[in-house]
Amino acid sequence: MPILKVEAVTKRFGGLEALRDVTFSLYDGQIKALIGPNGAGKTTLFNLMSGMDRPTAGHIYFGGKDIGRLAPHQASRLGVGRTFQHSKVFDDLSVLDNVKVGRHAKSTAGLLSAFFTLPRHRRDERSISEHAYHALRRVGLEAKAEEPAGGLPMGERHVLEIARALATEPRVLLLDEPAAGLNNEETDQLAESVRRIRDQGITVLLVEHDMGFVMDISDEVVVLDYGRKIAEGPPLMIQNDEEVIRAYLGEDLN
Ligand SMILES: Nc1ncnc2c1ncn2[C@@H]1O[C@H](COP(=O)(O)OP(=O)(O)OP(=O)(O)O)[C@@H](O)[C@H]1O
Ligand SMILES: [Mg+2]
Repeated sequence: MPILKVEAVTKRFGGLEALRDVTFSLYDGQIKALIGPNGAGKTTLFNLMSGMDRPTAGHIYFGGKDIGRLAPHQASRLGVGRTFQHSKVFDDLSVLDNVKVGRHAKSTAGLLSAFFTLPRHRRDERSISEHAYHALRRVGLEAKAEEPAGGLPMGERHVLEIARALATEPRVLLLDEPAAGLNNEETDQLAESVRRIRDQGITVLLVEHDMGFVMDISDEVVVLDYGRKIAEGPPLMIQNDEEVIRAYLGEDLN
């Protein structure tokens, strides 16, 4: 059984069809890429998978349970973690505190009450710190735990965002353009971190425009174009698919 299944999902915003009848599955231990030109519907699909928006039609199953109409904290609690296309690192907070901001969403006290010093929150605080530190270890950033996040180079900022998502203990991790703005060396390090996460038993679905990175790291690729799935398969097959090449006309996939 797939860990995550997108089944005939359509999403409309008024007259705009951002996703149309999209179906694909994600299997345990995979690194799968979701690619497509700007506006293809990739982030929209992530929003549906993480409870931030609801499909107009169709279903999203996570471990067999329909999660298409859950709230974000429910999707997170079930095991769907995500990062965002636009960086949300708090420069003035330490690296560890940036991760704790994410962990609060998973704690029993919840994100809102975490801002107040409720007794329950205090009990949670120690375990939040431990989990956050553990998440930093998983991506190899623990040595910088106490440094201000503002001082991190771009590559490590992106890895920090991944650590924050890991702190919610996801089974599936959705990464929205993790390599954006990174140089070659940083992209290679990122690939290393993502493989490490997969080796720790987390299934990864990533949106990315950097085709070198996608083809290097993915077991399988799904291609969206104007909200429709136009191809799905191993990287080599996708690189040579006529319809994919047409959708990316003028862009070099190799
Ligand atoms: N909340 C919204 N309201 C109205 N239209 C939206 C909304 N969110 C997305 N769209 C539209 O849906 C389409 C798909 O957008 P989406 O952000 O999912 O694309 P994307 O594949 O992530 O693109 P990019 O590669 O540029 O990030 C676009 O035409 C976008 O303008
Ligand atoms: Mg996007």
